[in-house]
Amino acid sequence: MACKKETVPFSGTPEQEAALKKVIAELKDTKGALMPIMQQAQDIYGYLPIEVQTMISDETGIPLEKIYGVSTFYSQFALQPKGKYQISVCLGTACYVKGSGAIFSKLEELLGITNGECTPDGRFSLDSCRCVGACGLAPVMMINDEVYGRLTPDDIPGILAKYN
Ligand code: FES
Repeated sequence: MACKKETVPFSGTPEQEAALKKVIAELKDTKGALMPIMQQAQDIYGYLPIEVQTMISDETGIPLEKIYGVSTFYSQFALQPKGKYQISVCLGTACYVKGSGAIFSKLEELLGITNGECTPDGRFSLDSCRCVGACGLAPVMMINDEVYGRLTPDDIPGILAKYN
């Protein structure tokens, strides 16, 4: 099974596991229960790592391959936790033609992670997004609620240095 590398160790608590088991016990005999179970599991853990998917598989009898397939097909499911600082680079058309691809590559290079991943210290996560409605500032990235525009790759180290 092709599985994305895990950059953050899983650290679920017994309380989270008990909450997940309760959800599964309530839903597992309902038709079409997998999606709601996965959604609630993500609410409990904040994301859906393979460890949580394995618990769902063990409790429901649904093959892990199927759960993994669903988790990678729907963008609402995150296989990695989000960082304390969530970086999102706009790859919408206006930003892309102004070079947001190079901004994204620079972030990958500096952080050592790629799309959908989180740094091992939990500080930064990196995602791409569609147009955020700030095309006049293209290329644009967001870090949490902060918008950065008219970026060049050389701006990125200085911006990251502000987030410690
Ligand atoms: S395309 Fe990036 S803000 Fe619109």
